[in-house]
Amino acid sequence: YPPEKIRNFSIIAHVDHGKSTLADRLLELTGTIKRGHGQPQYLDKLQVERERGITVKAQTATMFHKHNIQGAYSSAATEPLGFLLNLIDTPGHVDFSYEVSRSLAACQGALLVVDAAQGVQAQTVANFYLAFESNLTIIPIINKIDQPTADPDRVKAQLKSMFDLDPSDVLLTSAKTGQGLEHVLPAVIERIAPPPGLCSSPLRMLLLDSYYDEYKGVICHVAVADGALRKGDKISSAATGQSYDVLDVGIMHPELTPTGVLLTGQVGYVVSGMRSTKEARIGDTLYQSRSTVEPLPGFKPAKHMVFSGLYPADGSDFEALNHAIERLTCNDASVSVTKESSTALGLGFRCGFLGLLHMDVFHQRLEQEYGAHVISTVPTVPYIYEYFDGSKVEVQNPAALPSNPKQRVTACWEPTVTATIIIPSEYVGSVITLCSERRGQQLEYSFIDSQRAFMKYRLPLREIVVDFYNELKSITSGYASFDYEDAEYQQSDLRVGRELVEKLKKFIDRQMFEITIQAAIGSKVIARETVSAMRKNVLAKCYGGDVSRKRKLLDKQKEGKKRMKRVGSVDIPQEAFHELLKVS
Ligand code: GTP
Repeated sequence: YPPEKIRNFSIIAHVDHGKSTLADRLLELTGTIKRGHGQPQYLDKLQVERERGITVKAQTATMFHKHNIQGAYSSAATEPLGFLLNLIDTPGHVDFSYEVSRSLAACQGALLVVDAAQGVQAQTVANFYLAFESNLTIIPIINKIDQPTADPDRVKAQLKSMFDLDPSDVLLTSAKTGQGLEHVLPAVIERIAPPPGLCSSPLRMLLLDSYYDEYKGVICHVAVADGALRKGDKISSAATGQSYDVLDVGIMHPELTPTGVLLTGQVGYVVSGMRSTKEARIGDTLYQSRSTVEPLPGFKPAKHMVFSGLYPADGSDFEALNHAIERLTCNDASVSVTKESSTALGLGFRCGFLGLLHMDVFHQRLEQEYGAHVISTVPTVPYIYEYFDGSKVEVQNPAALPSNPKQRVTACWEPTVTATIIIPSEYVGSVITLCSERRGQQLEYSFIDSQRAFMKYRLPLREIVVDFYNELKSITSGYASFDYEDAEYQQSDLRVGRELVEKLKKFIDRQMFEITIQAAIGSKVIARETVSAMRKNVLAKCYGGDVSRKRKLLDKQKEGKKRMKRVGSVDIPQEAFHELLKVS
């Protein structure tokens, strides 16, 4: 297949608008998978993806499709021409926009899927701009037109007013009933440009993704920008300078299908004897050893916005957890890991994630796929502290704050985000209240149409980590959609300790003795709360009786409590840590 017979495209959408279902239908339509193959959403492969119904890791599949474009390539063409179509799936959730931009790097076009009833949502906006900024051709698709509440005309008007997309370019589909699907692949072939590479140039390919396979070792997903890659070639990495022998090469159709060669514009896989995915840097350029090429533009490295400690539930399992984390990070390069130790939990790891859902998913995968039992500590965001002497330092872990009182913190900056919120107009008031309670600053406020409002806010990231999304959903009866992107740091105050102590108080069960909760920076206590003791009614069985008898019983109880306070340990339930961040 020469480049002009190749199309590389992604499907982008707000969560649940039907992207994976549409992908499945296209794979069926082209015979890549069998109809009713039993497992819906072929590209959502991870167990956690199936359980949560979200796409986490982008997957790729190659399809073959015949289409008749008269006169396009040969004036005599009356027979349909064969095309090779690479579909690159993308995650829908805000936390994974890094994965979305990674997938888009190998594409020339994107299908922008919008639910016919829900219309444009926050991630539709975010994904549209990611695709638009990558200069992709956008094919708007209004999906789920079979729903009784579908209103395609309203959604067409939204697409026109928000993105200036021409209503006559919009396709109407139902991935459920199959209606309108026949127009999708012809639009892909006719509207999206072929990949621009040069077949006669030396090989250059972009490393899109990598994962570790028990039998084959590291498998890299690549997009060939120029030239050709053949089994037996020797390739080098622009990032590390390492060289490898190409042991196997092929396409995902949809499973690994060896072809022995990948030509300009194709997307496929390479097995090259890399021992660890750490050698396979996402965004790296691979080229023919001995040739000299200009590296392709890579990706911005993933930015870690939420940090949490991961510790083995049983201290002796450290090695097992270490192994599980190493294996899992092989398939999720967007997590950062450093070792740390805590006086309470022993040896463990401090991990950086793209967001809260990303953290949850990583945790769940550790347990499900690697059987690791993990305790995770309260998520934190990175702060920048300025010290008395004017020096500044980024602190990702509260334990890293200086305990030396002379090293005084004089100012503190926290990360903020620019949030996009789309809501039905009747919820505008309560959303404005929520955002101002969360220290938000309104940047923009307009109406998409008569029923929907669009707002932009600057919010401290910490306020979003603390369960903002659930709260937003609950005050809008689930109708709000939300997305955010990183903005700059802003100066913050140091009242966090006060709030945390108050919250923790609610979640620690009362014990038979009094518990003191303190927030401290080093040895300086900055906030304090007490959980009062439960009192057993030791006088219950003491009918009548004289005062001295009652006093004696109460004194005995007091004595016992004192002892318990000295020797008693308080189990802080794991939920207390999680819930700590969920209460507003
Ligand atoms: P993420 O992977 O989380 O981003 O979601 P998604 O956009 O891939 O959505 P998915 O394909 O998982 O579809 C979400 C839900 O909508 C599923 O329950 C589908 O069965 C349903 N659905 C998808 N397409 C249609 C459609 O055309 N009509 C109707 N009625 N339901 C649909």
